Amino acid sequence: MSKIIILFSLKFVVLFAIFPLCANAVIYNVQNFGAKPNNGRDSTKAFLQAWSLACSSTTPAMMFIPRGTYLVNTVAFSGPCKSARVTVRIDGKIQAPPSSYWEIGNYGTWILFQGINGLTINGGILDARGSPFWICRRASAYCPQGATSLSFNNVKNGIVSGIVSIDSQKAHMAINGCKTMKIRKVTLIAPAQSPNTDGIDIQSSTGIKILDSSIRTGDDCIAIGPGTKSLLVQRVVCGPGHGISIGSLARSPNEAGVEGIKVKDVTLTGSDNGLRIKTWPKPSNGFVKNVLYQNIVMNNVRNPIIIDQIYCPGTKGCSDQNSGLKISGVTYLNVSGTSATPIAIRFHCSATTPCDGIKLSNVNLTYSKQPAKTFCFSALGTSSAGQLGTSLSVGQLGTSLSVGRPTPGSCF
Ligand SMILES: *[C@@H]1O[C@H](CO)[C@@H](O)[C@H](O)[C@H]1NC(C)=O
Ligand SMILES: *[C@@H]1O[C@H](CO)[C@@H](O)[C@H](O)[C@H]1NC(C)=O
Repeated sequence: MSKIIILFSLKFVVLFAIFPLCANAVIYNVQNFGAKPNNGRDSTKAFLQAWSLACSSTTPAMMFIPRGTYLVNTVAFSGPCKSARVTVRIDGKIQAPPSSYWEIGNYGTWILFQGINGLTINGGILDARGSPFWICRRASAYCPQGATSLSFNNVKNGIVSGIVSIDSQKAHMAINGCKTMKIRKVTLIAPAQSPNTDGIDIQSSTGIKILDSSIRTGDDCIAIGPGTKSLLVQRVVCGPGHGISIGSLARSPNEAGVEGIKVKDVTLTGSDNGLRIKTWPKPSNGFVKNVLYQNIVMNNVRNPIIIDQIYCPGTKGCSDQNSGLKISGVTYLNVSGTSATPIAIRFHCSATTPCDGIKLSNVNLTYSKQPAKTFCFSALGTSSAGQLGTSLSVGQLGTSLSVGRPTPGSCF
């Protein structure tokens, strides 16, 4: 087995210049384990061997994927690893095999990292070749479950940067049960019409940062699920797609809450939703609290600001129920731009568990060069400054929940 420790070669000088942090790392090049680029052969085993040595190295190690296209099937890179940090450097492109429709589609995940404390992934293009899967989904035929391209389960102290993911079958990235991860400069792309191609799905995770990224997909740009705490999304552009969603929540009655979410300096273009919170109208002990949306630009977004507590697609036995999920402390600060529909702000909260502490400040959304409208049901809050449009319906505690006459201003 070739274990390469680069000392004072020319390569060392080059690597040192590009990648000073890992200059002293032991490097496991997948090509030394039989990975062959650009020849249509499956390199999964070689990747796993390189990983297994990198992960069992007692000093910081790197799994290195040089330039070229490598075919890789469903694979799990598992920890715990022996050193404080393992780096995966991808200079090449990792492509799902031509049969990915079944092969990766049957597993739910394509490339999975799990149970690792101290993981860095730098660069690389991931191509899941999702198109045959989308065609099946759109035809609503019997299809495999579909795979997320890059998943992290129980990863701590992770840094992921410079990844480009194209044409995922389902989500591009999923972060599950993770702690302290920074995702930077990732580009996630799938056609607007591709079903369920979320950009990044997060749940049961604390201290995740998503920074300086571009996400153009067919479904949610970022989907924030139960148990997400202390999340920062900053300098991200979204769209097309379904916007930044907290939810869906309250699908099941026992659910961890969502709290401490900051979304800043984000531009949404041509998306179905902008800033959305959605919950099923079902009993729930879950909650959403302490959310800040700040410095947001909307370009032609269908529902720029929306809280939807009657999310019941297909009305599967829930259309007559109320959501038990409490939403409180949601601030919209400096949100401007254009709505593609007349109602730019829609707060449709639970009739039995009203939203409270909603704050709108310096919000200015227009529709066809006119002030847009606001819809509220069972929502309490305050507003100041900016142009909030007219209110179509006001439902507040202590007042009638029926549709009122349009009045200028917000519903608060
Ligand atoms: C409002 O948001 C826009 C867009 O992000 C930004 O350029 C501007 O500086 C913000 N204004 C304030 C007062 O923060
Ligand atoms: C709201 O935005 C429109 C379009 O950009 C602008 O013309 C208008 O002055 C803004 N209103 C306020 C109150 O900032």
